[in-house]
Amino acid sequence: MPNMKRLIFYILLTVLFPEAVSFAAMTNVYGRDYRLLNGRWDAIVDLYDQGDRMKVYENRKPEGNTDFYEYSFDGGLRLEVPGDWNSQSPELKYYEGTVWYARHFDADPKPDCREFLCFGAVSYRCRVYLNGREICSHEGGFTPFEADVTDALRKGDNFLVVEVNNRRTKDAIPALAFDWWNYGGITRDVMLVTVPDNYVEDYFIRLDKKNHDTVNVDVRMSQPEAGVKVSVEIPALGKTVSGTTDARGNFSTSLRSKKLRLWAPDAPVRYEVNIAGGDDSVSERIGFRDIRTDGTRILINGKPQFMRCISFHEEIPQRMGRACSKADAVTLLSEARDLGVNMIRLAHYPQNEYIVRLAEEMGIALWQEIPIWQGIDFTDNDTRDKAQKMLTEMINRDKNRCAVGFWGVANETKPSPERDAFLESLLATGRDIDTTRLYVAAFDLVEFDKERKIFTMDDPFTRNLDVVAVNKYMGWYHPWPLSPAESKWEVNTDKPLIISEFGGEALYGQSGSRDVVSSWSEDYQARLYEDNLRMFENIPNLAGVSPWILFDFRSPFRFHPTNQEGWNRKGLVSDRGQRKKAWKIMHDYYQKKKLEYEK
Ligand code: GCU
Repeated sequence: MPNMKRLIFYILLTVLFPEAVSFAAMTNVYGRDYRLLNGRWDAIVDLYDQGDRMKVYENRKPEGNTDFYEYSFDGGLRLEVPGDWNSQSPELKYYEGTVWYARHFDADPKPDCREFLCFGAVSYRCRVYLNGREICSHEGGFTPFEADVTDALRKGDNFLVVEVNNRRTKDAIPALAFDWWNYGGITRDVMLVTVPDNYVEDYFIRLDKKNHDTVNVDVRMSQPEAGVKVSVEIPALGKTVSGTTDARGNFSTSLRSKKLRLWAPDAPVRYEVNIAGGDDSVSERIGFRDIRTDGTRILINGKPQFMRCISFHEEIPQRMGRACSKADAVTLLSEARDLGVNMIRLAHYPQNEYIVRLAEEMGIALWQEIPIWQGIDFTDNDTRDKAQKMLTEMINRDKNRCAVGFWGVANETKPSPERDAFLESLLATGRDIDTTRLYVAAFDLVEFDKERKIFTMDDPFTRNLDVVAVNKYMGWYHPWPLSPAESKWEVNTDKPLIISEFGGEALYGQSGSRDVVSSWSEDYQARLYEDNLRMFENIPNLAGVSPWILFDFRSPFRFHPTNQEGWNRKGLVSDRGQRKKAWKIMHDYYQKKKLEYEK
């Protein structure tokens, strides 16, 4: 029998917001008792959005002689889950619209337990139906959500339907146009998770900002009930802290150990942590680190760092599709590691947990952001609410990931009072949840001041940030007004500055002049890298660089028939995994920087 208070809360929510019943996902869903519902799902492509009118989620079958249904999930298209639909069928390569996914699964609900359907991500918006009943909806293609299906789940056969739509709209995030492929589908794992009636819903376990031998612990049980026993154990330290919940189901304490070793890119130490609450328990490996700024420096555990960074999209170019598995994470991260990075910018949206957790294991710090990319409708309150929810979902999913050192709140947005207010409210929301990371945004507003012969930028929003990042494409979108060696910068000199994007396009194997940008050649790209790296030496507050980008990636922005063919060719590595000449230049630069900072 479900908990009365919770039941009343549910009913209220369902009545007031029938569509809104998608909860921020429980912490560490992969540490729970779960079953993957991945595999080949049936699918219906619904270009004109007729499926709702036809109630396809009821999966009706003709009974008599006179009734018939102009749809069926049997014998039709089948799509792999997780995965985007665009790479699974030539007809769907450019498809933007609605696709109905469906599958049967058997269940055996346990007494005194709750059952949740958890989605790693669905792109872009969706409604979920179980046994013909709508159970939740969600918007945003890159963050997890869940629905409590305890009451809707049956013993035996269940029929799950997910209506997925990836149409671009003005009020969406990202909005109408963006420089990556608009993959649609159930792009990450789907799980059926079983937890006790009162379960460990959320926890935040991190290093104390003042005392590096102290771990702060916050645990929230799912039921607002006092007196429930909670404990947090770190066996490797021989330490356990325990107590009981307050009336809201919360428990907070801290754990001290002189033996505590900290996580850092060159020493990715993590500890098995066991969290128990009531009848529930969940475990995972957590690392502890302190990241902060000190003037223009970025410090990890007090040690100055140069962020040797690279960006990549959540895409496997060889498959022309979304990365979604552990093997995909290995592909992306091992190529990044070979370049010599100690950080990755996961562009331009939260990427899957396989990538985030493996990066942490490998000792690679992360910048993670929500896709507030260029032309977002900052005047729309609904869009603002969506951004708030997306940021909250991202932070809640990864707040226990010590590798994540930076939360990015925007990329290349134009200054306006509406934009400032929108982003300031995002920062406030983020800092309410998490003050153990640095907040950053990327700007493309650095201009050459002809009078002072210097590069400057004036965007008032930078004052709110811990770190300022700049996207600047010298030698590509911008010709050199001065030689790289003479190019001086004066940009937010009171803060650490990261070059979050620079680079140019080259078709792998194409040789040409080092002086002619339209050669689209590896030679010109290599020259461009040499020039930019030379200029970066003139940036007094430089704390890191991140070339755009590790791999060539797909984008509907890129029309050149021979040099691009729908690919952004700024990769240091081609879509076939071949390293371009600029790769070596960047690799050697990072070797040099590594040695410089090890001294
Ligand atoms: C921008 C943007 C990227 C884009 C890049 C490019 O700076 O942030 O998303 O891909 O430029 O033009 O290649």
